[in-house]
Amino acid sequence: MAHTPVLLSEAIELMQISDKCKVIDATFGDGGHTKAILNYNQTCNVFGVDRDELAATQAKIVESQYPERFRFLCSRFSLLPELFQNTEKFDSVLFDFGVSSSQIDDYNRGFSFMRDGPLDMRMSGTDTITAFDIVNTYSQKDIADIIYNYGEERKSREIAKRIVEARKVSSITTTLQLKNIINDALHNKKFSKIDNATKTFQALRIYINQELEEISSALAALPLILKHGARIVTISFHALESRLVKEWQRNNSNTIKKINKKVIKPSREEIIQNPRSRSAVLRGFIYE
Ligand SMILES: C[S@@+](CC[C@H](N)C(=O)[O-])C[C@H]1O[C@@H](n2cnc3c(N)ncnc32)[C@H](O)[C@@H]1O
Repeated sequence: MAHTPVLLSEAIELMQISDKCKVIDATFGDGGHTKAILNYNQTCNVFGVDRDELAATQAKIVESQYPERFRFLCSRFSLLPELFQNTEKFDSVLFDFGVSSSQIDDYNRGFSFMRDGPLDMRMSGTDTITAFDIVNTYSQKDIADIIYNYGEERKSREIAKRIVEARKVSSITTTLQLKNIINDALHNKKFSKIDNATKTFQALRIYINQELEEISSALAALPLILKHGARIVTISFHALESRLVKEWQRNNSNTIKKINKKVIKPSREEIIQNPRSRSAVLRGFIYE
């Protein structure tokens, strides 16, 4: 299923796309936000960035539709200053953090526990560590720390213990095997509304893709590529992402000003139409 862009009109409003402005969509994905920005103002230029080589396929279509106004670069967003060091500075940048529906729904990539797939979870083929490596080779303590630090899972130690017991019998190779191990560790009891495996899968994904380090580096480097007065718009999906954005703003409050005092969340209608939007939180800032 193609990714449905989240908080689309709200994000575009915050980005303030004016005539001839230069925009970065730092998380191109399936290009939902990019296409809406290109259509919103017929004179703006958009640079799409995504670390996933598969995003390039969708980007080629957009490039053919908007040859003068859109370009795609396959890269991590922590490298934005290197990518754009010789270009004029930008008016607006959008970060829609996390993974896209196309990534989650491709079971061969191992992001989802809804159907069986290999334990991979890398956003880019150039990354080296996979979920298989972590669950089969890391120490029990390191696995527990990853699950606790990046998943905020209170039962991290029980889950890590069970993983290490299971791998003594045979390697853990698939997402459903891991999901069953997590359920065993929690004695098949439900502790919250979300699936027992959600936090552990989130933790592994964040660790493997160094998602939090990427966000911190990218935000810190924004003054190198933005004009004064530029807009920065972020969409986060969990507390760890939001915490980094809030800390970055607080630590730079002399130059990074909030546009909206309160965060913007999806409407009831949007959540009904696209349940994956339910945890999205939109923030807008001006670089003064
Ligand atoms: C939520 S999706 C974005 C969806 C997009 N806004 C759309 O409308 O189709 C997040 C995308 O960001 C990409 N991504 C995540 N971390 C990244 C990073 N550090 N650098 C570049 N791209 C990243 C993922 O590969 C994924 O395609």
